[in-house]
Amino acid sequence: MVKKIDILPKNKRYFKKLIPFAQRIIQTIEDGGIPTIVYGSFAHFYHTKDKTMNVNDIDIMVPEHKKNLQKISSILKKSNIKHNYYPKWETLIIKKGMLKVEVDGVGQNYKTMKENSLFKFNYDKIDFYGLSVKLLKLNQIEEMYSRALIESDKTKLNVVHKVKLLEKFLDRKIKGDLKVDRIKSKDLNRKDKKALEELRVKEFGEENRKDFKKDYESDTLWVVIKKKGKIVSFGGIRPIKVKYKGRIYHIGGICSTISVIKKKGYGKIMVNVMKDYSQETGKTILGFTGQTKFFSKCGFGTKKNFVRRFVWVKPNGEKVYDDDGDGIYYEGRDKLISKILKTKSPAHIFVEYW
Ligand SMILES: CC(C)(COP(=O)(O)OP(=O)(O)OC[C@H]1O[C@@H](n2cnc3c(N)ncnc32)[C@H](O)[C@@H]1OP(=O)(O)O)[C@@H](O)C(=O)NCCC(=O)NCCS
Repeated sequence: MVKKIDILPKNKRYFKKLIPFAQRIIQTIEDGGIPTIVYGSFAHFYHTKDKTMNVNDIDIMVPEHKKNLQKISSILKKSNIKHNYYPKWETLIIKKGMLKVEVDGVGQNYKTMKENSLFKFNYDKIDFYGLSVKLLKLNQIEEMYSRALIESDKTKLNVVHKVKLLEKFLDRKIKGDLKVDRIKSKDLNRKDKKALEELRVKEFGEENRKDFKKDYESDTLWVVIKKKGKIVSFGGIRPIKVKYKGRIYHIGGICSTISVIKKKGYGKIMVNVMKDYSQETGKTILGFTGQTKFFSKCGFGTKKNFVRRFVWVKPNGEKVYDDDGDGIYYEGRDKLISKILKTKSPAHIFVEYW
């Protein structure tokens, strides 16, 4: 059943102009064969009918895959709709004067949703002032906010106010049962140290056991995701020195990325916190793995067999080579990865492949 909406948010005058603008864009994208779901503050407003809310733009999500945003960009061009496309953020912004519509690939703002199920079942059909549109369900807005609360500070600031409004409407706290800890090896308490060591053994075997205080640099940073107090995903960033073409670079070495509970989006949240770390510090982070596809899905750069470009130089000068591992990285201000990819010169490291 299509539900009709007849109320307006607080900023009525502006919003009345926004409606036809957004309708035209939704219609144009859908006519181009790409499904859309309206989310963001309008979906929040619709579900709560909170007339004290302003709705300043319309947010639309589309499935992230199959170069959808690129396709949308050309559809809009054909319809003479001016817009800016930001491939890095999987976002496209359409502005006309003050009016604004934003189109996002699902995997970005809505980092942990499963695209397929989202577009198949998880929306309400509503009558958007005369146009039938799909709208994100209330429980998913809640989930989105609760995840945004553990994301970077910037995302967090954007949602804090909306979270308060939604909590008022729900008359309870937003679930937010996930907690992110960022903690250095030297600061790990006994309980967490033991838990991390055992979970690592469970994944990689007893023969690969590590002592988190002795076998990792004391400044190794652990990102630990807990759900109701239990560790569900974790990974480390080691301080690593790389020598390339005579220059020393200090980067973060991504190591031991493990989801205790798999395929629930916890790994993605964990590596997104690593990405935040790279953005905050400007540091390049790099790991070697066979789980290339997972990292690529999380927005990391990848390079097949990249480990072959790295030579481990032991303190006695002996050189050790490895040929098994793709590179997964998020590049920082030093642009180290781009520099290495431009030449055939080896990069030297001074600890065993991490
Ligand atoms: C790799 C690993 C950390 C992924 O964690 P996870 O919590 O299961 O992953 P998520 O649920 O967050 O998945 C995020 C996305 O990646 C995809 N993905 C996860 N594992 C994948 C894999 N092995 N191959 C391809 N895609 C994968 C998911 O389908 C999901 O896609 P979606 O966003 O389109 O839905 C986890 O499988 C693991 O612990 N593996 C064993 C340890 C390991 O090999 N670590 C890496 C090397 S040190």
